[in-house]
Amino acid sequence: MTRVLVAYGSKRGSTAEIAGWIGETLRGQGLETEVADAGTVRDVSAYDAVVLGGALYAGRWHKDARRFARRHAAALSGRPVWLFSSGPLDRSAQEGEIPPVPQAARASAALDACEHRTFGGRLTHDARGFLASAIAERSGGDYRDQDRVRDWALRVAAQVAATEQAKS
Ligand SMILES: Cc1cc2nc3c(=O)[nH]c(=O)nc-3n(C[C@H](O)[C@H](O)[C@H](O)COP(=O)(O)O)c2cc1C
Repeated sequence: MTRVLVAYGSKRGSTAEIAGWIGETLRGQGLETEVADAGTVRDVSAYDAVVLGGALYAGRWHKDARRFARRHAAALSGRPVWLFSSGPLDRSAQEGEIPPVPQAARASAALDACEHRTFGGRLTHDARGFLASAIAERSGGDYRDQDRVRDWALRVAAQVAATEQAKS
C-alpha cells in the first residue's frame, strides 16, 4: 500500500483545511494518506510521498513548513514531494500561477519538489490581531477554490501512482 503524508503549517486553520481536502482526494484515489501539522511530524520514513503546504504571512512561508523541509530533506531524498502555499486574499491565485515566495522556492530546491502551487487564502472578517484585523477589514473573505485544490490533488495522486508503478 502506498502511503502519503500531507503536512501543513497553518496559523488560522485555512491551510490545514486545504491539506484536509488534499488528503480526502488522495484517499479517494486509493492512497493511504495521513494529514498532519508539520510541526508535529518526527519521522517521515514510513511515507512513499509527501505533500507539504504552508500559509503565507508577510511574504514568508509558515515556519512549521520551513522547518519540516529543513528537518526532513535528507530522509525525503529520492521520494516525490509536492509543495503548496496558501495566501492571496483576492482572485489572483485562480487567475494564474503565482510563483513560490523565496522560502518556499528554497524548500522546493532542497526537496527537489515535483511542483509548487499557490492557492488562495482565507481571512475571516473577525480575525484578531492589529495587522490581521486591518487586512481583514480591507480584504477579508474566503478565496480558496476547493475544486482547484482537489484537481491538483488528483494530479498528485496520478503522479504518485505512476512513480510507484515504475518502482515495481
Ligand atoms: C498579517 C497577515 C499577513 C499576511 N501576509 C500575506 C502575504 O504576504 N502573502 C499572501 O499571499 N497572503 C498573506 N496573508 C493572507 C494569509 O496567508 C491567508 O489568510 C491564509 O489563508 C492564512 O492561512 P492560515 O489560516 O492557514 O493561517 C496574510 C494575512 C495576515 C493576517
